[in-house]
Amino acid sequence: MSALVVYDSNYGNTERIAEAIATALSEAGHDARVEGLHGGQRPQIPSDVRLLVCGAPTNAFRASAAMNGYLRGLPPNILAGINIAAFDTRMDLSKAPWFLRIMANLFGFAAEKIARRLARLGGKPLGQPAGFVVTDMEGPLADGEIARAQAWARTLVAANS
Ligand SMILES: Cc1cc2nc3c(=O)[nH]c(=O)nc-3n(C[C@H](O)[C@H](O)[C@H](O)COP(=O)(O)O)c2cc1C
Repeated sequence: MSALVVYDSNYGNTERIAEAIATALSEAGHDARVEGLHGGQRPQIPSDVRLLVCGAPTNAFRASAAMNGYLRGLPPNILAGINIAAFDTRMDLSKAPWFLRIMANLFGFAAEKIARRLARLGGKPLGQPAGFVVTDMEGPLADGEIARAQAWARTLVAANS
């Protein structure tokens, strides 16, 4: 299966997760490419891609502006026949002020919203959206999150077989 991992990243944490996911997909025998949105041009979805994985930092309870722009720019039904999966990075809010925790409960995180948009474009969801935790605004990732991302990628492969 040919896979494309599209990510946005302000401080490099989501990029690390994207690379880890692509590595796990490659190790499982798939042709996995990674493309960041910060380069200016929008990644195309090559015709051989059968799995599109999109990931972004959670910014104000949703995906970053660059990821939202990318998703908005995809034409209707472009993901018909393509498996999709979504992930985000997010803060560990367990020690955040109570009102932030309540707002996060109410308004959520980026991954679910990315997954919904990918599905509206015709994609077939593989597995559950996933969130990976940073310990502070600019990172680093919490211990074990790279391994968890690779394990999550393997669940996508399993769900596809
Ligand atoms: C403007 C801004 C808004 C943010 N809003 C949220 C939020 O609503 N929920 C959350 O969990 N983290 C939030 N964060 C923290 C980001 O999720 C964190 O910076 C990001 O996961 C780091 O990944 P990156 O290095 O790929 O940018 C916010 C960060 C910024 C800069």
